[in-house]
Amino acid sequence: MEGNRICELMGIRYPIVQAPMNWVSGANLAAAVSLAGGLGTLGPNAGADSITTDVELAGKRMRDQIRKVKGLTEEPFAVNIAVGIGEHRKYSQRIVEVVIEEEVPVAIVSVGRPDVYADVLKNAGIKVLHAISTARHAKKAEECGVDAVICEGFEAGGHKGFTELTTFVLTPMVADAVKIPVIAGGGIGDARGVLAALALGADGAYMGTRFMVTKESDSHPRVKESVVKGEDACTVTLPKDFMLARDLSNAFTKRYLGMRTAGVSPQELNDYLNAHSPYYGQHLGDVEGAEVCCGQVAGLIESVKGAQEILEDIAKEINTCFKDLKKKMNEFL
Ligand SMILES: Cc1cc2nc3c(=O)[nH]c(=O)nc-3n(C[C@H](O)[C@H](O)[C@H](O)COP(=O)(O)O)c2cc1C
Repeated sequence: MEGNRICELMGIRYPIVQAPMNWVSGANLAAAVSLAGGLGTLGPNAGADSITTDVELAGKRMRDQIRKVKGLTEEPFAVNIAVGIGEHRKYSQRIVEVVIEEEVPVAIVSVGRPDVYADVLKNAGIKVLHAISTARHAKKAEECGVDAVICEGFEAGGHKGFTELTTFVLTPMVADAVKIPVIAGGGIGDARGVLAALALGADGAYMGTRFMVTKESDSHPRVKESVVKGEDACTVTLPKDFMLARDLSNAFTKRYLGMRTAGVSPQELNDYLNAHSPYYGQHLGDVEGAEVCCGQVAGLIESVKGAQEILEDIAKEINTCFKDLKKKMNEFL
């Protein structure tokens, strides 16, 4: 899209960013999205088959995935840096080093403060997109020099801040608050969602759950099937100790919420989460007994598609959607 600030910033054809997803967005998905004209992104545990606490191994795994993407496409792509809290900072620190050494074009920094890595990434010539869930944090990210902000609304799958601001209200507030480009995410699954994001003041769209249900994603086939079968109210919000998560509603989420209501200790809750983490749900396919991150848009997803097909469908249908909108506007005026 000529003149679009997101396309120009990153040198991509469509202003659509495939959001990073733990255990889901490996090299095959990231490369497929970038090849099709969007921005593909490697997420935590990209391409991995087991949990590791070894910092060096985590770095090596990400380096291998970055090289795999580069072998599949010359188009720009991103790597997620989920800012680690406390002792977990060592992992995000290692990923930052690898991203710089491998000259990755774009970093998507999430779940943490923008001042931690903005300078070091920008000084290495990397474009920095920062994910936020309030207008105040968007302004802070802009002050830290990031290139664009990503609004993550309450509808979104996975972990986000502690607010319940939806994409519909967050996006225009952020678009008013900052001068840098804005990307809207949370609840976008088709051309209508992308058009709505642009109408709300965003320059581009950020899509996770829709890309989770693709041929190229590393999600277990049972997860994809559950999302396709999932109806409008198939997700639930889980309050955790430092943020909210949105997951597929299942026996795991019911048990967790029950434990919270019963007032079990934070340690017990954490032990339960660790023993039923997305590794078991998203990766190994225990869709009832473990955590499966998923956005509200699940109810709109009716089939497993290829990443290219998703982007092509949006490009095709957005014109029809726009014509329908113009007709409604003419009736309105
Ligand atoms: C399965 C899954 C895993 C996710 N893991 C991460 C992650 O590791 N890091 C991150 O910044 N966001 C993560 N997210 C959030 C997404 O990056 C993005 O904000 C969200 O998917 C957008 O909303 P949508 O799901 O409605 O498209 C995850 C989302 C999903 C669905």
